[in-house]
Amino acid sequence: MTQTILLTGATGYIASHTWLALQAAGYRVIGVDNFSNSSPKVLERLAELSGQTPLFERLDVCDGAALDAVFAEYKPAAVVHFAAYKAVGESTTKPLSYYRNNLDGLLTVCETMRRHDCHRIVFSSSATVYGQPKTLPLREDADLMAVNPYGATKLIGEGILRDLGAADPRWQTACLRYFNPVGAHESGRIGEDPRGIPNNLMPYVTQVAVGRRAKLSIFGDDYDTPDGTGVRDYIHVVDLADGHVAALNFLLRGNESIWVNLGTGRGYSVLELVDAFAKASGREIPHEIVARRAGDVAACYADPALARDKLGWTAKHDLRRMCEDSWRWQSSNPNGFEG
Ligand code: WQD
Repeated sequence: MTQTILLTGATGYIASHTWLALQAAGYRVIGVDNFSNSSPKVLERLAELSGQTPLFERLDVCDGAALDAVFAEYKPAAVVHFAAYKAVGESTTKPLSYYRNNLDGLLTVCETMRRHDCHRIVFSSSATVYGQPKTLPLREDADLMAVNPYGATKLIGEGILRDLGAADPRWQTACLRYFNPVGAHESGRIGEDPRGIPNNLMPYVTQVAVGRRAKLSIFGDDYDTPDGTGVRDYIHVVDLADGHVAALNFLLRGNESIWVNLGTGRGYSVLELVDAFAKASGREIPHEIVARRAGDVAACYADPALARDKLGWTAKHDLRRMCEDSWRWQSSNPNGFEG
């Protein structure tokens, strides 16, 4: 009997790639999204890539009645919960909307799950819960600290799921702490399409390369790193999607809850990524060094051993592939999905 998985935030960047990975793994997927930060055109691309019409309902995960109807109709065996606002900088200017949306959404999803006797959830968390790393690489037992409202919603979300499991052992949760997602599906038909000025490095670089932005501002080159620019653990979004499938399989096999890093364990600096992208795309990336960005840390990269040992998952794509796939997506969709 094919198991059905409910995907929230389903037309977003990581979720749309996870949708394809879940289908390839034999799951039936019902996706929900309110399109607050994604395009309906993603559904057309998913239909093209999967050869089947996506099962989809437009809704806000804070709408319990709408979620109830989806659970009643599709009877999901588990939920992969992506739906949340995720811009660190924006969260510091709009904390209330981040707490309301991200926490209300998770609570409504969990309450609806409980009403429908569904107790398995894969939760989209973030390396941001580690705050300012004291030691590297980051292991899952490192100190946790919220350093911005976005990170606080992820830390509180992990705590909600931990307490749910402590109160009722039927709950099986997998909190996946993403490092820096980049790249795109090899087809170039889906990818990262941020609205407005990109906060993150890779989409800014791809928009410079395709001519939408004049030059990249590099936020500081005086960090205690090999070339002075920030070092991060970039992970290909397809590897990240496969990590979600591995975590779901782990829960559906009856295992206990898990909190796990999804990273490569390898850090690259801003200048290393810019150089790798220029080589992969054949495009020069004009850039200038400017002041540090508030809240940035010098370096952040994962110890991915737990995901390897417990989930049997490791990242497969290297930085060159991340850059090639990001460029293929952006060059064939210069203005994103709304072309
Ligand atoms: C990477 C590096 C910047 C943009 C954030 C969130 C994290 C996760 C991923 C949600 C840093 C430098 C960037 C630019 C630059 N999101 N940079 N110029 O800050 O590591 O992580 O996104 O889960 O929670 O915190 O990613 O891509 O913004 O920055 O120089 O225009 O690139 O200083 O060193 P970050 P990023």
